[in-house]
Amino acid sequence: MINIGLIGLGSMGYNLARNLTSKDFKVCAYEKNITIIKKIEQDKVPSLFLVKSLKQLINDTPSPRIIMLSLPANKIDECIDDIIEFMNPGDTIADLGNSLYLKSIDRYNRLLKKNISFLGIGVSGGPRGARNGPAIMAGGSEVAWKKVSHIFHSISAKNGEQNACCYFGSSGSGHFIKLIHNGIEYALMEALAEISIILNKAYKLNSSEQVKKLREVLDTTSSSFLLEITTKVIDAKNENNINFIDFVDSHIGQNGTGVWTINAALDLGVSIPSIYSAVSTRSSSQYFNYNIGENLPYNNTKNNLNVNDINLEEIVFFNFACSIFQGLNLIKESNRYDFFDFNLQDVFIAWSAGCILQGEYLKYISNEFNINKDLNYKFLYELINKKCPNIDQIRDFCSTSIKLGIPSPVLSANLAYYDLVFSNHKIGETIQLQRSYFGLHPLKQKNDKDAVKPYWTKL
Ligand code: 6PG
Repeated sequence: MINIGLIGLGSMGYNLARNLTSKDFKVCAYEKNITIIKKIEQDKVPSLFLVKSLKQLINDTPSPRIIMLSLPANKIDECIDDIIEFMNPGDTIADLGNSLYLKSIDRYNRLLKKNISFLGIGVSGGPRGARNGPAIMAGGSEVAWKKVSHIFHSISAKNGEQNACCYFGSSGSGHFIKLIHNGIEYALMEALAEISIILNKAYKLNSSEQVKKLREVLDTTSSSFLLEITTKVIDAKNENNINFIDFVDSHIGQNGTGVWTINAALDLGVSIPSIYSAVSTRSSSQYFNYNIGENLPYNNTKNNLNVNDINLEEIVFFNFACSIFQGLNLIKESNRYDFFDFNLQDVFIAWSAGCILQGEYLKYISNEFNINKDLNYKFLYELINKKCPNIDQIRDFCSTSIKLGIPSPVLSANLAYYDLVFSNHKIGETIQLQRSYFGLHPLKQKNDKDAVKPYWTKL
């Protein structure tokens, strides 16, 4: 039997505590915010024992113990500093927050010196997922994971008989997978937002008509949790019957995981333009709603667009497939770090339920991956060919937005990614020649062996 201590009873921590206690685990918990504590005390959750200090938390959670941290990323080190002196060799600290994987590697190494095990665990699904079954992505001490995995398996989301709970190995691996999950999450969220704005501005659908059109996709293999919530939010109204979308602030928040995903991609030289575009939109959202160009876009009087001419199931699938491929490819390429050794099938299992990315589209891609066994560009091409045979209408949808001045950075990035890889062009050759002209960089023929020496290389 291992004793559970939990630090941080914010919306994630408290719901994890309720999930744990509902599965018959006893949890001793500490939260420093008195207002939160007072609220929680009123709930009288059985088997949840609230303590007044970190010292008491450790005392009341005798070894063998696991201390779970559900805290903002910038509070983890401070908390470890505060509890470390009370802990015994053989104990485990598990960080369940959205931490940077590189920090998890450092924390693992730091705690190893004290013989304390560290687990970096990504938890997805928001507070509702935490309460009812989140997706769990673990990394860190294998010995510790063996001791505590039953706890995480029992609280995780289920996909049939399978738990959406995987251990990925070395110390930063769980948080790395969660990081990429979030980067993809940004791209899919924005693709849906862009699609809905195009339906509105170009195809003149009001919010309830958009919902109707998007709901049809929920019955297909392009369905997803994010699509479902999008159909709920774009038509939601306040008590005065005004759509929230018409008065909510347009400045998009972000917790940093998208930026970290881009940093990882840049470090490894992997292209993730759609994820980048989504993160970049969040940054530029602070400038939205300025009035300089208000009369410029959205003039579709000449276009005669008919929403029945578009196949949304294919448009959604195309965009989701291109974005998720970029994230999965980053995971695959990250195996070049000597501390990672990811098996992509485990990623599909961890993301099969409970998380923000869950959906039918992902099950479809996972099944196709099971057949193909390798995540390469041929796989992406065949996947899209099979599910989106009419790629021209995807191009039309995107070019409509461009023609009318409706911003579509993620939809455009997905299409540009696809075309860069699969269409026959000479962008690479042109740039190599430009480089050679001014930098005298050596050039090779397509056979990768023989040199090419244009006249400008002779000084
Ligand atoms: C999840 C989410 C979650 C994330 C929030 C907010 O998987 O449950 O990814 O971990 O923190 O969605 O993220 P942003 O503030 O960056 O939008």
